[in-house]
Amino acid sequence: MLPASLVTSLTSKADIGLENAIPLRQRTTTSGVRYGCASAAPSVQPDITLLDKIRTEANIFVPEGSLKWIVTEPQPGQFDFLQGDSIAVFARRNGMLVHGHTLVWHAAIPTWVSQLVAPASARMALGRHIGTLVSRYKGLIWAWDVVNEAIEPDDGIDYGYRNSPWYHCLGADYIDLAFRLARDADSKPPLCLSEYGLEYQTLASKRRRSALLSLLRHLRTQGTPIDCLALQSHLSADQVLDQDGLTSFLRQVVALGYRLAITELDVNDAKIPGTIEARDRIVEAHVSDYLDLVFSVARPISIATWGLSDRYTWLRQYYSRDDGTALRPLPLDVNLRRKPMWSALARFISAP
Ligand code: G3I
Repeated sequence: MLPASLVTSLTSKADIGLENAIPLRQRTTTSGVRYGCASAAPSVQPDITLLDKIRTEANIFVPEGSLKWIVTEPQPGQFDFLQGDSIAVFARRNGMLVHGHTLVWHAAIPTWVSQLVAPASARMALGRHIGTLVSRYKGLIWAWDVVNEAIEPDDGIDYGYRNSPWYHCLGADYIDLAFRLARDADSKPPLCLSEYGLEYQTLASKRRRSALLSLLRHLRTQGTPIDCLALQSHLSADQVLDQDGLTSFLRQVVALGYRLAITELDVNDAKIPGTIEARDRIVEAHVSDYLDLVFSVARPISIATWGLSDRYTWLRQYYSRDDGTALRPLPLDVNLRRKPMWSALARFISAP
């Protein structure tokens, strides 16, 4: 929990001339909590004004899609690093690190991966893919999302495992295997298990927390080399955070020896009525409440938002507002001006 005096002083500082306030990137030196944001590769989306804001505000670049399997290994053993390398060049040039997203996922995979059946073929594919990607960007990677979204209680499998192609070929052991392969390829960056849908007072959130905790306990007993739980944090401003349930869950995760990272933060305001100013204040409060809860358990190693500006957000593919106005889920507006959500991030990223 931040001291009230600090919150007040930083709030007023951010409110007076928000555009002139110290960028998030510079604030990370006070707290040690790095700030990252997801984006397409500069080669794919050469939006110079956005890239300028990214290098000013963030010290981690998160490839939104460029390191996914469908992009990097579209055919068996044929790798394509055009997008990944464009990010690597941008990051190196601007003194940034890269959050590796993501090595093993059930989505954004090419057809040949989704058609794997034999365990030996799946093992070979995992070994080649993880070894190649992790080695290529060694030294530049801040952390790796090694396994993404391993649970889905609705799939009806024991312990809540997701019925992914990987589970289908290798059973739950694919998770341990993936982390060992990543660790063998690079001993340095924190290795993360990334998950979503954990925050609210809904039955779905409760079931997801329970399944994930069982999995994290199991991975500890197996000695799986996993360092960190990546909380995706795709929030919805119309839902109620589960203060007790989420706090208790995070405490147990930390007690197991895992660190926390916030990796895909954004706030869906599709169902929030009112003016843009009112909506932005609600989004800011939601982010503040959420970060307050997480920081009260443990300081995350980094906070990343899933995009920087409302100009580009995946949410638009799936959600829209009844009043026809655009969603405002990110720290900067479509004109790249800082919003109240930016101030909420600034307060926590500045926490001494
Ligand atoms: O690149 C192709 C382009 O060539 C084609 O013309 C166009 C036509 O639709 O599609 C483009 O690919 C899209 C890609 O994003 C790049 O824009 C895919 O259709 C689209 O499905 C893909 O969506 C991404 C999604 O993951 C699946 O990979 C979203 O941008 C990205 O924000 C989203 O990110 C995920 C995280 O990885 C994991 N956690 C949840 C998060 C949100 O869903």
